[in-house]
Amino acid sequence: MVSTQAPFFFPMAQFILFVFVASTIFHLQQRLAKIQPTWMLHTQGSGPTTQGSTHSQLQGMWTINSQGRLGNQMGEYATLYALAKMNGRPAFIPPEMHNTLAPIFKITLPVLHRATASRIPWQDYHLNDWMEERYRRIPGEFVRLTGYPCSWTFYHHLRHEILREFTLHDHVREEAQAFLRGLQVNGSRPGTFVGVHVRRGDYVHVMPRVWKGVVADPGYLQQALDWFRARYSSPIFVVTSNGMAWCQENMDASRGDVVFAGNGLEGSPAKDFALLTQCNHTIMTIGTFGIWAAYLAGGDTVYLANYTLPDSPFLKIFKPEAAFLPEWTGIAADLSPLLKH
Ligand SMILES: *[C@@H]1O[C@H](CO)[C@@H](O)[C@H](O)[C@H]1NC(C)=O
Ligand SMILES: *[C@@H]1O[C@H](CO)[C@@H](O)[C@H](O)[C@H]1NC(C)=O
Ligand SMILES: *[C@@H]1O[C@H](CO)[C@@H](O)[C@H](O)[C@H]1NC(C)=O
Repeated sequence: MVSTQAPFFFPMAQFILFVFVASTIFHLQQRLAKIQPTWMLHTQGSGPTTQGSTHSQLQGMWTINSQGRLGNQMGEYATLYALAKMNGRPAFIPPEMHNTLAPIFKITLPVLHRATASRIPWQDYHLNDWMEERYRRIPGEFVRLTGYPCSWTFYHHLRHEILREFTLHDHVREEAQAFLRGLQVNGSRPGTFVGVHVRRGDYVHVMPRVWKGVVADPGYLQQALDWFRARYSSPIFVVTSNGMAWCQENMDASRGDVVFAGNGLEGSPAKDFALLTQCNHTIMTIGTFGIWAAYLAGGDTVYLANYTLPDSPFLKIFKPEAAFLPEWTGIAADLSPLLKH
């Protein structure tokens, strides 16, 4: 039976398969044509949504939580920008993020109105602070990314677009430039400007108590300044900090090349941030504010490395290799104060 039917069976199967495939394609096309107009969302500006997508319309709406202060929100913005683009989705930022970033930068992602956001059935999607393969295909049309992503591993391939998004408004840049133009080292214009960000504030207590870690000490800052003094002629160090009194007591300014600038106001960080990004190079301590200042300044960067004990819970949520660019220079922290207790 089987052998006699076989010659007839195969062409028949091919024919049925052909009809099936053809009708499936036909129906799919019809359905897509119906679905598309209702899901099409147009965004203004030149965000990731409108670039390279002239042929296929982007569907859905992605956003991200707005948590933390300036540095964290810059990380969240850049990560949303990059992952939405990678997944072919239009990106919208929450109003709180717009309030933090728009007064400083020429950002272009559209703002999601609170009333609109509240009607959307969001799917929350948690991100670690480093890029993972699975983030290239995040399912869902209405995704709200969550977490504190900041790592360059999300967005460094789009560096030029990220730098464009975080371009300072002209008046913010000009104010910083005017300050730098007025600086002198021993009566002449400095050859090189090095922005120094010393993160103090809550971290001074949080690092040892919560994370088994330290913040930058005077020894680190001395080494970091000397690193630049050895490489550049007459550099000037432009110090910003949310603990300026500590800096004035603990940084050696006797050579006349250290200036305590900025106002350290956490609520209005534009001035300090602009000063750092307008410098040629960066010395950072810890925190995303310093990381972003260094990323935007774009010159040499010296950072505090290995500032927690190896068994710190911090290392479960923070990968140094995903936080600091490979070309940056780390100076190991002195952990001895942690070992005394
Ligand atoms: C500035 O001048 C003083 C006194 O001559 C000198 O000790 C110091 O090293 C100079 N600083 C720099 C950065 O050249
Ligand atoms: C260093 O920074 C100053 C201040 O922003 C700028 O005027 C100068 O052109 C920069 N130098 C280099 C080599 O980029
Ligand atoms: C930090 O620790 C890692 C792992 O022990 C080591 O490879 C790296 O060289 C250290 N970094 C610095 C700047 O000492």
